Amino acid sequence: MIRVGVIGAGIRGRMYSETLLQNAYAELVAVSDTSAGAIERIKSMLPDTVKFYSDFKEMIDKESLDAVIVAVPDFLHHDPVIYAAEHGLNILCEKPFSTDLNECMEMQAAIDKAGVKCMVAFENRWNMPMVAMKQKIDEGVLGDIVNVNARLNDKIFVPTEMLKWSKGSSVGWFLFPHVLDLIMWFNGGKKVKQVYAVGTKKVLASMGLDIYDSMQATVTFEDDTSATMTSSWILPNSLALTYDLKMEIIGEKSTAYLNTYDQCAQVFSDKAENLHSLGTPIDGTLTGNSNFMTHHFINVLRGTAELDADSKKGVYNTKVICAIHESAAAGGKVITL
Ligand SMILES: NC(=O)c1ccc[n+]([C@@H]2O[C@H](COP(=O)([O-])OP(=O)(O)OC[C@H]3O[C@@H](n4cnc5c(N)ncnc54)[C@H](O)[C@@H]3O)[C@@H](O)[C@H]2O)c1
Repeated sequence: MIRVGVIGAGIRGRMYSETLLQNAYAELVAVSDTSAGAIERIKSMLPDTVKFYSDFKEMIDKESLDAVIVAVPDFLHHDPVIYAAEHGLNILCEKPFSTDLNECMEMQAAIDKAGVKCMVAFENRWNMPMVAMKQKIDEGVLGDIVNVNARLNDKIFVPTEMLKWSKGSSVGWFLFPHVLDLIMWFNGGKKVKQVYAVGTKKVLASMGLDIYDSMQATVTFEDDTSATMTSSWILPNSLALTYDLKMEIIGEKSTAYLNTYDQCAQVFSDKAENLHSLGTPIDGTLTGNSNFMTHHFINVLRGTAELDADSKKGVYNTKVICAIHESAAAGGKVITL
């Protein structure tokens, strides 16, 4: 059994914990969260065998673990990743790997020194339409990818209600990691040559949140192919699904479209409802992309799957998104990587 501890018992920590309970090769040993309320909430969902800690270091020190899953806010990934690596534990870390490039380098150095495996939760690699698209691209149906237009937006609920810590992150840090990873997964990992980005602060700023409503970035790759990424955090709460991810991929031979919003079952009455058709349990088994990703991590540790979404890709993803923020902060300065 792969013995796992989960760090952070919020939305993602709960999802990871429930998923681990459904994995025949994993044992959810313990969960840690600094918030007593978060611990209380998750406790009611989990069996009595699971232990709970307010301090992840105490959890790592006291429990005999093989791996941890780091599911704390975007800007707090550094300390648990370093501590876990220093204690020889394998890691699944949420995206973004970090919001700071120096932190990322320290995390990667600790991982390399310890020789542990570290995967970054780029969960769209386990999202069915993306998986199908990747297969087509690998078969050569599109040819070389010339241009990608991608947009991933959230309802305003996300920065104003769902994430208590949105002020410490940004729409770019929360959403671009997914889209950039997909673009680079699809285009075979071409290196980024330069970025140009702009951002708008209006709606959220008027609500006391000094963060971007929307960011738009143009990314140029080493061979002069390019991609645009747009992410907004102010879509109306009347949207049926919390997020809206669409991509247009223009290849030398074909053009392809991805649309996850219309994949969901939607019901409109006096409110809009998304019936979770992307992860509806079937015979009790969770079927969402993040569930498949969690099982993949366990398979990597069992030696039955290859680690591809690794921390080196996480570091590079952060490097590009740092440059995007730098460009936007400078009003659209072109940044060469
Ligand atoms: N919510 C989503 O849809 C989603 C999707 C993909 C990825 N993510 C990523 O997952 C990460 C977690 O997001 P979330 O939505 O679960 O946030 P959340 O706010 O629901 O949960 C985070 C939890 O971490 C806890 N925490 C903070 N510091 C801690 C520490 N030092 N030790 C232990 N626990 C600590 C908080 O008390 C909170 O319960 C973020 O990096 C986010 O970008 C979230």
